[in-house]
Amino acid sequence: MDNLFKAAVITLSDKGAAGKRADESGPLIKKMLEDCNLCTVEEMMIIPDEPEQLKGNLIRMSDGSGYDLILTTGGTGLSPRDFTPEATLEVADKNVPGIAEYMRFRSFEITDKAMLSRGVSVMRKNTLIINLPGSPKAVQENLGFILPALRHGLEIMTGRASECGHSAK
Ligand code: MTE
Repeated sequence: MDNLFKAAVITLSDKGAAGKRADESGPLIKKMLEDCNLCTVEEMMIIPDEPEQLKGNLIRMSDGSGYDLILTTGGTGLSPRDFTPEATLEVADKNVPGIAEYMRFRSFEITDKAMLSRGVSVMRKNTLIINLPGSPKAVQENLGFILPALRHGLEIMTGRASECGHSAK
């Protein structure tokens, strides 16, 4: 459908990139975005936890490739190889803190380990970039929390909507 937003998904995983672990989270994100008719996911990739690789792909995808939304999964925690938030912030033009705040806020209802995700949400040019944690469970929960408001955010960002309806919840 023409009116769907265009999305890309990047899985950050050393083991996944080496073919030592199947990526369940990337396909789950694609399914969730497409099941609610928000996006078509046109590119998916698995890369190791290398910040330069992530930055290069975020820049390519947001500068001229026409992606409205990029979701990353993994690399948001405290391990020495977790660099996803830092790489994302380095390519950002604008901070969109409420999305990451809301994911953690709602996640605390489920697990206090939500405090261990350092994920950020930002814009580069006209692309919204959101870091999700790595496990399929965390993806299901976090993406589920933000999906209802994402459509309006993407409509405003892309100029498809110019005003916030007063009745919007
Ligand atoms: N958020 C929700 N909603 N559910 C979860 O199971 N897992 C947490 C956290 N956020 C989790 C969650 C855990 S255990 C970790 S270590 C961090 O996300 C970071 O995950 P990552 O390193 O895979 O990105």
